[in-house]
Amino acid sequence: MRSFIQILIGVVLAVATLVATGLVYVKATGLRGQPEPGLIETRVARTIRAFAIPREMRARTNPLVGSESARWLGLEHFARYCALCHGNDGSGVKSAIGRGLLPKPPDMRALATQGLTDGELFYIIENGVRFTGMPAFGTGTSDQAGDKQAWELVTFIRRLPQITADEIGYMESLNPL
Ligand code: HEC
Repeated sequence: MRSFIQILIGVVLAVATLVATGLVYVKATGLRGQPEPGLIETRVARTIRAFAIPREMRARTNPLVGSESARWLGLEHFARYCALCHGNDGSGVKSAIGRGLLPKPPDMRALATQGLTDGELFYIIENGVRFTGMPAFGTGTSDQAGDKQAWELVTFIRRLPQITADEIGYMESLNPL
């Protein structure tokens, strides 16, 4: 009986400490969108995100890989719906909205993004990333046209490290005002 009471007191103290830490965090940060998350927070967040993506989704491969037309269609969607945060070249830095988002949209030309599997990219486009500015573009149900569009975007994201000035010029003509 005594040990039960001791455990109970321990649990209550632990919960109270957690709540107090949470309140201090909320007050100290004002829950502002800034400052930028540090390296450790970013690493931890990316690891948890990778863990959260179901294994069978991660293992999916792009059915449109190597398709010229998919790459161009992906480029057009990207210019219209993604570039406002990610920039036409995927670097994220030049876009008005991307600059103020924390965590920032990463440089998608770099290994951190290019090293994600096709399935991971597809899953992120369809479902977004919780607690960040990355919106979900899927409808939440299996929809062939939507899936095709997401795979076209994956095809285009693979192109980003070699994107040309001509392609960027064409994207600029499609960017929303
Ligand atoms: C409103 C801003 C916004 C828009 C619009 C947006 N994104 Fe994002 N995106 C983000 C942010 C912020 C992140 C970083 C999320 C994180 O830190 O996990 C992100 C992350 C990603 C990632 C993961 C990259 C990585 O290495 O973590 C992919 C892939 C992606 N976006 C694709 C897209 C595509 C494709 C579109 C358009 C259909 C799009 N995004 C539109 C803000 C946006």
